[in-house]
Amino acid sequence: MNWKRKDLLDIRDLSKEEMLFILDTAESFKDISRREIKKVPTLRGKTVITLFYEPSTRTRTSFEIAAKRLSADTINISSSTSSSTKGESLKDTARNLESMRPDAIVIRHSMPGAPHMLAGILDSSIINGGDGSHEHPTQALLDLYTMREKKGRINGLRIVIVGDIAHSRVARSNIFSLKNFGNEVICCGPPTMIPPYIETLGVRVEYDLKTAVRKADVIMMLRIQKERGGTKYIPSTKEYSTLYGLTKRHVDMAANDVIIMHPGPMNRGIEITDEVADGPSSVILDQVENGVAVRMAILYLLIGGEA
Ligand code: CP
Repeated sequence: MNWKRKDLLDIRDLSKEEMLFILDTAESFKDISRREIKKVPTLRGKTVITLFYEPSTRTRTSFEIAAKRLSADTINISSSTSSSTKGESLKDTARNLESMRPDAIVIRHSMPGAPHMLAGILDSSIINGGDGSHEHPTQALLDLYTMREKKGRINGLRIVIVGDIAHSRVARSNIFSLKNFGNEVICCGPPTMIPPYIETLGVRVEYDLKTAVRKADVIMMLRIQKERGGTKYIPSTKEYSTLYGLTKRHVDMAANDVIIMHPGPMNRGIEITDEVADGPSSVILDQVENGVAVRMAILYLLIGGEA
């Protein structure tokens, strides 16, 4: 396949072939992180900036590690240390950064469409590291990679996504990728956290967690998006936890080889118990490990790759 994109902005935009190409490329990079010398010269001389206006542990760090393992130079900028605190606009910040000739900018912003705006005005490759409640494409790709690795396929699976669907960019990106590959996707959560349009995306809605998880191949748990007002939509976290917290009993109702996923950060004791998060079906830390390989593939394809 001939990779032609300058930016990675949405999963909705990607064809199945493009997603598979990223996963296959990631496969060839995964091994590098397990070697004693975890570095190859593939992106030597390239510069990657991470520009994060929202907190992050996994996405920002794994992009930095991915870039460093490919020998690119990395610069990390967060909103608290940037001149946005002095009133500089995102557009001006981005234009100033571009003047220093980076090759790629990974941006996370609370405003949906912020990465798209930058992609329209900059020559650097723009990667969406999460824009508001819109999309988180690299999370969906690492989730697909992990499902393919653990289940041996990414089609014909019954996948349940549980929690604050309305405010979750992870849920939206996963719905687009998983439906594109022909999976059955069930969204489960309190009615106030399931947006009315969601069935138009081809998913089924189930409000009862026990019914939703029956015979599930994959259960993907989400946290309540407090920073987007998620707690206003439930009477209390205690009630939420009673009705939608995943316990061992739920895992036992799913398929024998069910995998439990969570994009992180987890709120243990609210959406998931310790027993499930740390149990044999959990692939949560595999998701994090695979995130590095997937992000190496994305950087390689966008700023260093050839057909
Ligand atoms: N999954 C995810 O986006 O985690 P961070 O917020 O820590 O980057």
